[in-house]
Amino acid sequence: MEENGRKKIILTGDRPTGRLHVGHYAGSVKRRVELQESGEFEDIFIMIADAQALTDNADNPEKVRQNIIEVALDYLSCGLDPSKSTLFIQSQIPELTELTFYYMNLVTVSRLQRNPTVKNEIKMRNFETSIPVGFFVYPISQAADITAFKATTVPVGEDQLPMIEQTREIVRSFNHIYGEALVEPDVLLPDNKACMRLPGIDGKAKMSKSLNNCIYLSDTEEDVRKKVMSMFTDPNHLKVEDPGEVEGNPVFIYLEAFCRDDHFQRFWPEYENLDQLKAHYTRGGLGDVKVKKFLNQVLQDELAPIRARRKEYEKNIPEVYRILQEGSQKARKVAARTLADVKAAMKIDYFEDEELIQSQAQRFQA
Ligand code: TRP
Repeated sequence: MEENGRKKIILTGDRPTGRLHVGHYAGSVKRRVELQESGEFEDIFIMIADAQALTDNADNPEKVRQNIIEVALDYLSCGLDPSKSTLFIQSQIPELTELTFYYMNLVTVSRLQRNPTVKNEIKMRNFETSIPVGFFVYPISQAADITAFKATTVPVGEDQLPMIEQTREIVRSFNHIYGEALVEPDVLLPDNKACMRLPGIDGKAKMSKSLNNCIYLSDTEEDVRKKVMSMFTDPNHLKVEDPGEVEGNPVFIYLEAFCRDDHFQRFWPEYENLDQLKAHYTRGGLGDVKVKKFLNQVLQDELAPIRARRKEYEKNIPEVYRILQEGSQKARKVAARTLADVKAAMKIDYFEDEELIQSQAQRFQA
């Protein structure tokens, strides 16, 4: 559980602005469960980032509040296990806000303006000239989230890379000025390329609630089937005999992300693996409906146990809130220890520093 004498610790999370979809699952939640089961990590912290969600939803607290329980249910039903991973809510850890305030001194406005994720989101939200300050500085608060838990490992999707880079800069700068109090984290990206960025069912680059192109983890079996059967494929593959394009074809990207050879054995023994299926599709003579039916079977196979676990937790919602409360209490203790280290390093621990009081007393007696 140690690397170079450091304990391996995970911190990651999601903004509660909607239910989680299969893009979240493929890109990160599934991996977290594998990491949780690997036994390689001393501690795993999974955060519902409500404070960050409020940075661009300040006028809609109810949306954030409603989605906290949705995301928690999604986590638990995917197999995140509160006895192995600490699930908590960001806003319940005031230490994170305090750390953010001190880290702000280590980051320039122009550095934030250059952060590609922030730049992109400002464009997407049409903020341009009216960017909320809280939103603008959220990369700094994200650095607080990560460092508060002395995380060594941050498993996230590719879009979060600039955030981790910004965190590493803050850590280096803090440690340089104040002494080694913080841990520089490493990012852990999905190892399957298709999982990195699952497109929407309409073929658009990203699944997004506003585009109405997501398959949600909490969708019913029938919803999933309908969505898969309506998926965008190769627009030039009009007749079954036509050669088809697998590159950039959402149906094949999803298969790339989810199907295993045993799915072929169980559901479509005509092919041994995805390569054979792709070869047939590329050659021509394979209709989209057949491929979609197979994708539906693969997805249902993956989602059925998730759906079943969700049903169980839905019967006991107060218990889910209790899990989050206990997780938040534990997370708070850890963050408080880091904040104490940070304040000592920054020399703002006046009342904890007996030596300071004594030496000042002497100075004024002399
Ligand atoms: N920015 C992440 C998202 O958009 C959520 C998040 C907040 C996060 N703080 C984090 C992720 C720290 C990893 C580490 O969902």
